[in-house]
Amino acid sequence: MTTLLHINASPRYVHSDSLALARYFIDSVQDSTQDSFEVDTLNLFDDGVLPVFGRTAAAAKMAVFSGQEQTTEQIVAWQSARAVFDQFAAADAYVFNIPMWNSGVPYALKQWIDIITQPGWSFGFDPEKGYRGLMEGKHALAIHTSGVYAPGVPAAFGSDFSSTFFADWLNFVGIHDATHVRFAPTVVNGDVDGTRKAAESELSEAVTAFASKLDAIGNLQLANS
Ligand SMILES: Cc1cc2nc3c(=O)[nH]c(=O)nc-3n(C[C@H](O)[C@H](O)[C@H](O)COP(=O)(O)O)c2cc1C
Repeated sequence: MTTLLHINASPRYVHSDSLALARYFIDSVQDSTQDSFEVDTLNLFDDGVLPVFGRTAAAAKMAVFSGQEQTTEQIVAWQSARAVFDQFAAADAYVFNIPMWNSGVPYALKQWIDIITQPGWSFGFDPEKGYRGLMEGKHALAIHTSGVYAPGVPAAFGSDFSSTFFADWLNFVGIHDATHVRFAPTVVNGDVDGTRKAAESELSEAVTAFASKLDAIGNLQLANS
């Protein structure tokens, strides 16, 4: 069955602007597809959802890179990371909601990225040609929110290393078909409702294309079964 993985990078749940928009988008896509699809949700800030990626896991990664055998401890850490990657790889499409935190992405999202971005899993490396993303044929929509920063604000109101980093990472792992929608209910925004409606209408415009990609994946799976 076609699977959409929803990655929620906000811990604010009922108060989250980015999560509300993600749900709006997913509901609209569900209304627009011909076939039903599965929605798998990963709340990155829920307790115990992500394994630590520290000393042991980093050593396990470096062992892979240098062609050395992993220790028993490293194998266990590597398998925990692999389980997170498998959920990512099993999905056909992704919806991300990402609040800006200190000009970057929330740390739980960075942790998830650090867990799943591994050689031979989501990217390959060739000493002559460089990196190559392995997550081909996937589709993504990312919603970015911020509370002070908005495009065009003076430098004193902050910078955006969040959407730029995230767009670059999607590209790095081979997800080239990505739509980014921004909503900035900022302290200097005099028309928050108007901007929310604008974000919703941008999302609505993306629904048909996203839904038909899911339908196409579903049809392909049916033809191959
Ligand atoms: C820890 C933290 C750091 C934040 N850092 C920034 C920031 O650097 N720039 C900014 O414009 N807003 C920042 N914000 C505000 C959030 O990006 C903004 O409120 C966003 O809409 C929250 O999305 P959410 O409601 O989905 O959680 C920060 C909020 C938190 C909780």
